[in-house]
Amino acid sequence: MLVASILISQFYLVCAAPAPAALGGPGLQLVQEPKSFANSTESVPDGVVMMHLECVEKVFADEVVQSWNLDGTSSDEQLKVIADRMNNRLTYYTVNVSIGSPPQYFPVQVDTGSSDLWVPSNTLMFDGFDTGASSTFRYVNSPFEIQYVKDAAKGFWGIDTVSLQDKFTVTDQQFGIATDAPGCEIGIFGIGLAGSESTDEVYANFPQSLVDQGLINKNVYSMYLNDLHSKQATILFGGTDKAHHGELATLPLVSKKAFQVNMSNISVNDKKLLREPMPVLLDSGTSLVYLPEKQVKAIAKSYGAKFNPSLSMYLIDEHDLARKKPNGLDFTFGDVTINVPHEELFWPLSWFTLQSSPYYVMTVMPSNYSMDYVILGDSFLRSAYVTYDLDKHEIQIGQNIITTNSEIVPLYPDNPQ
Ligand SMILES: *[C@@H]1O[C@H](CO)[C@@H](O)[C@H](O)[C@H]1NC(C)=O
Ligand SMILES: *[C@@H]1O[C@H](CO)[C@@H](O)[C@H](O)[C@H]1NC(C)=O
Ligand SMILES: *[C@@H]1O[C@H](CO)[C@@H](O)[C@H](O)[C@H]1NC(C)=O
Ligand SMILES: *[C@@H]1O[C@H](CO)[C@@H](O)[C@H](O)[C@H]1NC(C)=O
Ligand SMILES: *[C@@H]1O[C@H](CO)[C@@H](O)[C@H](O)[C@H]1NC(C)=O
Repeated sequence: MLVASILISQFYLVCAAPAPAALGGPGLQLVQEPKSFANSTESVPDGVVMMHLECVEKVFADEVVQSWNLDGTSSDEQLKVIADRMNNRLTYYTVNVSIGSPPQYFPVQVDTGSSDLWVPSNTLMFDGFDTGASSTFRYVNSPFEIQYVKDAAKGFWGIDTVSLQDKFTVTDQQFGIATDAPGCEIGIFGIGLAGSESTDEVYANFPQSLVDQGLINKNVYSMYLNDLHSKQATILFGGTDKAHHGELATLPLVSKKAFQVNMSNISVNDKKLLREPMPVLLDSGTSLVYLPEKQVKAIAKSYGAKFNPSLSMYLIDEHDLARKKPNGLDFTFGDVTINVPHEELFWPLSWFTLQSSPYYVMTVMPSNYSMDYVILGDSFLRSAYVTYDLDKHEIQIGQNIITTNSEIVPLYPDNPQ
């Protein structure tokens, strides 16, 4: 069955394109998806390139991949906490999973907005999943299909062993193998609510399997997305890291199917932009923030960003931005306010064009680009520490504290956190 959250998420799924080696130095390349959205490249002035925020990848030249140790996770209790470094690709996050026996490795995009794990088949992609090479693979007799707004990923379902870091292993995990996934080059790690899978019959998705097979105590995970410039982010299945947040607000989900909660306020320079609570979707599979046009306009006005009709986006000149010394945006949930700094709200246009430009693009977009769903994606989530409780259908949210310290604790079904 298809739910709205899956649709939304799929709409924004970023399909990774490998970084062209020729690009050289660090930068961000926006891989333009010509078949999507309108097509107004022609009217864009010099130095400005039409961009579609779908396929974004950070290119790190000479990247030094440092080993990532979770301090103090060696105790038995803490071994129950599954921590996995995610590869911060700037506007979306991937994690490596291995599937099968012997293991085949895949980077997959972490997505709280959908509930299925799927990887490309080797008939679709050279390094896709080879069912014949896994001695533990079994077919599930039903077709796999996730509907996109424009396309669909299709294939078949299978069951196999799935592992994180070759260490945290679940057996008999159902997952999709895509034989057709237009535009996508990596799979998706949908870790959304159990019961929202795109199947007729409910199966235990990966987070649920971790609980069922005793690797964690409770179907809950916390995400620490670090900051915009960091390569390392963390997901903790079954636990939380107390060093990474201050006060938390606990919010019930508005929907049983999606991580949607009531936001009570948005404010910019102490000006309140919401009259009443607004349901928002917290979606790691979405890169940016999508708000109703009214609020977007108010935010742009407050910063002095100007609407550029060719781009259909708000731009601001670097001098104007520097002169304003902006405070960022405040998002309030219950008693807790999350401040999103202006570095997340305005990104240099040059990241997308790889040419120098005096302009910055506002990353808060009107929700007519997101089927009118109000979505807080990664450019908001990096400023928040969020614990997603899939059992109690609630989230906890607080300001993210950027630190190399950690204080990871496991969570149990009955503890109040
Ligand atoms: C985009 O521009 C190309 C080249 O001018 C044209 O062939 C194509 O039909 C346009 N697509 C849309 C959606 O307007
Ligand atoms: C995933 O695996 C690739 C290949 O081994 C490695 O380069 C990359 O750093 C890994 N990423 C993460 C997040 O572990
Ligand atoms: C969300 O806000 C609406 C409008 O104020 C309210 O009716 C609803 O009960 C709230 N839902 C939750 C889950 O807080
Ligand atoms: C909303 O933000 C304004 C400005 O920061 C603040 O004065 C007000 O108390 C906030 N309201 C709520 C309901 O959080
Ligand atoms: C959204 O609204 C803006 C402003 O009204 C418009 O320029 C833009 O084309 C719209 N985008 C979509 C996808 O409808």
